[in-house]
Amino acid sequence: MFPTDRPRRLRATPGLRRLVAETDVRPRHLVLPVFVAEGLDAPKPITSMPGVVQHTRDSLRKAAAEAAAAGVGGIMLFGVPARRDAVGSGATDPDGILNVALRDVRSEVGDALPVMADTCLDEFTDHGHCGVLDERGRDAKRSGAGPIETVDNDATLPIYGEMAVAQAAAGAHVVAPSGMMDGQVGVIRRALDEAGHRDTAILAYSAKYASAFYGPFREAVDSQLQGDRRTYQQDPGNAREAAREVALDLDEGADMVMVKPAMSYLDVLRRVADSADVPVAAYQVSGEYAMISAAAERGWLDRERTILESLTAIRRAGADVVLTYWAVEAAAWLDR
Ligand code: PBG
Repeated sequence: MFPTDRPRRLRATPGLRRLVAETDVRPRHLVLPVFVAEGLDAPKPITSMPGVVQHTRDSLRKAAAEAAAAGVGGIMLFGVPARRDAVGSGATDPDGILNVALRDVRSEVGDALPVMADTCLDEFTDHGHCGVLDERGRDAKRSGAGPIETVDNDATLPIYGEMAVAQAAAGAHVVAPSGMMDGQVGVIRRALDEAGHRDTAILAYSAKYASAFYGPFREAVDSQLQGDRRTYQQDPGNAREAAREVALDLDEGADMVMVKPAMSYLDVLRRVADSADVPVAAYQVSGEYAMISAAAERGWLDRERTILESLTAIRRAGADVVLTYWAVEAAAWLDR
């Protein structure tokens, strides 16, 4: 008798659905990105990311302890300095905000929670780009005529190397180059090894797109950026190119690779997960957080269900690790 195939049989009870679930999200899969700002005396809300703040050093310590207690997979630190300059000196300074915060967090959580550091200059430069400017870029900045688009790839590399070493020395278990400079992973690996940090891992932002979904992040880090990052981040239409970026990073010694953003790039994530022989991460970015938050605030979406569905979808597409600003909150739901 028709229908003979009845897939609904396995959906009939919560127990059956649980038994046959193909994808799960556990607290360990989630990494919490956090912002720490220099010179704050209280945590400062980020208006376009309701519930997310720029931390003080003190409140960050507490957040890190909470994240460890929640059993999440890791914590990723971004620093917001009080002063910026053309070469991002605060990034390599052992007393720069990110490096002191790494020390704080590491002394708080020890090895209980993997501590990761954003290895990029954009928060630290007075032009907001991920690297130092070349002659044309410096001219554009001086004259104020038009957007600054020209970052000097090779002049940026040694600064990334120095930055990674400072982060490793400050206690980062993992450094995460996110600037999309060619050769960044290789240069960082060499610099870490030469400085004796052979066991510091590299999570490479391999396939990072020039995305409008980073909008709220600009507020989160007081970004100074005018123009965009299209001369170094990937064009949203390109997927084959992502495979190439990943292959290059693996060749240069990446221990993990990342696709970013997540939800608009699930096909890219699947492709990377199918070919890479290292753990693959995906970053549910600020704009993804803002969209769901805003719709939920209006009562247009069920907040918890939407968040959990989004995380499940990112896992289903192949992410071993998901960076999400909901990591700690979602971990509590998942633990129930
Ligand atoms: C650059 C960096 C960005 C994000 C993480 N690292 C911004 C950019 O590339 O423009 C975005 C994260 C988010 O939107 O949540 N260091």
